[in-house]
Amino acid sequence: MKGTASIISANKEKFLNELFDLLRIPTISADSAYKAEVLRGAGKVAEFLRNAGADLVEICETAGHPIVYGEKIIDPTLPTILVYGHYDVQPADPLELWTTPPFEPVIRNTPIHPEGAIFARGACDDKGQFFMHLKAFDAMMQAGELPCNVKFMIEGEEEVGSEHLGIFIKENKERLKADIILVSDTGMLSNDTPSITTGLRGLSYVKVEVTGPNRDLHSGLYGGCVANPINILAKMIASLHDENNHITIPGFYADVVELSLEERAEMAKAPYSADDYKAALDIAAEYGEKGYTTPERGSIRPTLDVNGIWGGYTGEGAKTVIASKAHAKISMRLVPNQQPEEITRLFSDHFKAIAPEGVTVVVNPHHGGEPVVTPIDSIGYLSASKAYEHTFGKKPIPVRSGGSIPIIALFEQELGLKTVMMGFGLDSDAIHSPNEHYGLFNFYKGIETIPYFFHYFTEAMKS
Ligand code: BES
Ligand code: MN
Ligand code: MN
Repeated sequence: MKGTASIISANKEKFLNELFDLLRIPTISADSAYKAEVLRGAGKVAEFLRNAGADLVEICETAGHPIVYGEKIIDPTLPTILVYGHYDVQPADPLELWTTPPFEPVIRNTPIHPEGAIFARGACDDKGQFFMHLKAFDAMMQAGELPCNVKFMIEGEEEVGSEHLGIFIKENKERLKADIILVSDTGMLSNDTPSITTGLRGLSYVKVEVTGPNRDLHSGLYGGCVANPINILAKMIASLHDENNHITIPGFYADVVELSLEERAEMAKAPYSADDYKAALDIAAEYGEKGYTTPERGSIRPTLDVNGIWGGYTGEGAKTVIASKAHAKISMRLVPNQQPEEITRLFSDHFKAIAPEGVTVVVNPHHGGEPVVTPIDSIGYLSASKAYEHTFGKKPIPVRSGGSIPIIALFEQELGLKTVMMGFGLDSDAIHSPNEHYGLFNFYKGIETIPYFFHYFTEAMKS
């Protein structure tokens, strides 16, 4: 991989400029006003793949946003790595909280990234990360050092639930045949404590609507006389956790795999400082389920959180009114072996059961996904570990993440493969937030490390 490494170091500027071109395209999948931009983003990804030497590059139309596919088969008897990523991004609002505009990438230093970070929506999630794979491939091709076959599947709907990718996978099983799935869409502990993500939580996401009277009412004439949907919704939500912050939905924990004390002791070896955690978020105390540490609460335990709540009058000044309706969006993060459909059903039954007389409740399920775990004794994990050890000079720590990439469990089921998650972002990179950024160190380290994964994985599969 010597030739690859020298091509990477000779092309650092060029790679960065190309990423900037991609970051300038507002590929916001959630907002239909950006449909043409999402398509333009797909075109750009296809162009990069073609220029790097991929064959059969195709922008695969779906009923939603397109999937970009490309491959390089150098020898069908060699192993094949299937790289997955997403070129769509989260909406950028609230815009006023961005120091520089979200789709005009710039480099700025931060205390955590003293060597500079790329500020833009999608810089870390996931353009900056899947782009590392395009450039690692580009460099291996130029150096004549690509050791195995590679397939790329870069989608445009991850941030909205990957609805059409599920269909695409089912219809393209032959084309997607591979030996492992490789993803860079997660994080690591810190730039001097490399880690590999060995798990993701599943997700169940619902919208609830509580309806009281048939119209908005004067809060003087009717206040105290009818069930106020907002008061009721607040009460119902508050009752979903008990005094120990356990979730009160009957059966919610029934399928949760509890970790052994040994496994929890192993997890506790990963560095964590409560003081740093609190300082980074300006909070006075940690908070969460009794009996578990913050890293455990954020990875091996299921959770329930309100993501948004609205209703009634929120405009300027005061309007005395009892709203007819109140709404909330609620996410539940799931761990093995919780099933999203089952959890959504339990939630829905419980939420309707606790509604008092005088209101009606509707629960609308949104997208969901199952959790995933990568075994640390698998060829994929061990090859990734060697690659990190090579480029970081340290053995990486396995860490289960709290985030979700719902489509991965489906890939694993449909394609019969396991996944390796080589994420290089940091929790402090503000993904989904204003001022999202991605460290230059992380960007280049990723491009450097990926070819070694290709190398070690190919070696391990041959032997
Ligand atoms: N890349 C993230 C997930 C992630 C981030 C996992 C950091 C681990 C560490 C992904 O793009 C994402 O945002 N997923 C959503 C779910 C999706 C259905 C909107 C999530 O986790 O909320
Ligand atoms: Mn992502
Ligand atoms: Mn995301």
